[in-house]
Amino acid sequence: MAIISSKKQPPEPNGQPKQRRPVASSPPKENLLQPEAAVDEGKQEESIRPHRFADYIGQKDLKDVLEIAIKAAKSRGEVLDHLLLYGPPGLGKTTMAMILASEMGVNCKITSAPALERPRDIVGLLVNLKPGDVLFIDEIHRLSRMSEEILYPAMEDYRLDITIGKGSSAKTRSIPLSKYTLVGATTRVGALTSPLRDRFGLIQKLRFYEVDELSKIVLRSAQLLQTPVTEDGATEIARRARGTPRIANRLLKRVRDYAQVKLSGEINEKVAAEALQLFQVDPCGLDWTDRRMLSVIIENFNGGPVGLETIAAATGEDTQTIEEVYEPYLMQIGYLSRTTRGRVATPAAYKHLGFKPPNEQLSLLP
Ligand code: ADE
Repeated sequence: MAIISSKKQPPEPNGQPKQRRPVASSPPKENLLQPEAAVDEGKQEESIRPHRFADYIGQKDLKDVLEIAIKAAKSRGEVLDHLLLYGPPGLGKTTMAMILASEMGVNCKITSAPALERPRDIVGLLVNLKPGDVLFIDEIHRLSRMSEEILYPAMEDYRLDITIGKGSSAKTRSIPLSKYTLVGATTRVGALTSPLRDRFGLIQKLRFYEVDELSKIVLRSAQLLQTPVTEDGATEIARRARGTPRIANRLLKRVRDYAQVKLSGEINEKVAAEALQLFQVDPCGLDWTDRRMLSVIIENFNGGPVGLETIAAATGEDTQTIEEVYEPYLMQIGYLSRTTRGRVATPAAYKHLGFKPPNEQLSLLP
């Protein structure tokens, strides 16, 4: 792990190290490390998105499970079971749904729960599905109650139950639907109601990518973008991409611009490191909010435990974004732990931010 500053701090009179504020006082305007797609980014992603399992790097366990499910469904001549994909944003849930459809040789309709606010939105989508089609609903935990209730028979029995009229004269009519596969995606599997969760035959988690996997993704994308990059240049980008392909590809494009303007030719380790330092992307992929979160815990709360609400107030982020976006990566790299009493910064986080770890934690350092 790289350390931002290794300068020794003079000890305080009470023997505790003097803690310094290592983050800028305001966040940068553009966030290169946000895992959600930016407006207009979808189109750019399309040009480098893999379309077959053979081109999809990483998520080996998930691919193994899905490849077997596809083969079995094809050999029985049936549609694929409904599938729930969960995990942090940017890891490839949409890509996986599109690959599933293309491997099954069917269409993939893509939508997200906030676009299905009115029952007629989801009804319109369902009645137009062709046999075998994949319907991808992103952020499925945000479905309205009415839309969710329409989905129950539509998932279980491929049937729409429509109520016509009101009060005592109301009648229910059933409309048969084509057999299809629903792929739901969520960053918050715990927020799904159990009747909805229980209707998925397969529930699979996407995990953060390893640096070597992200490095291969960067090399593949660079080739598609006709950008020369060395292996160590790809690794430097991968190291700072927070285990997330979307971020790796975004950083690649930024480094490509930098290399072009500086007439650096190919992207090697030095060029990538220079560019990413300029864009304030930390060697471990931490951004302003990560550093602010950790330094608030360390400086103001002696390393924690401290409550989520307090961290949210100090960073100006909402609690949901902290829980779903920031904390998973910080926990993954061992900088933060969640305890029943609150969040705690680990010795590795102290070290990374240039703080001296508290004495009792020193023995835990590698
Ligand atoms: N681009 C984005 N995600 C990818 C992946 N998992 N494999 C290959 N290219 C990608």
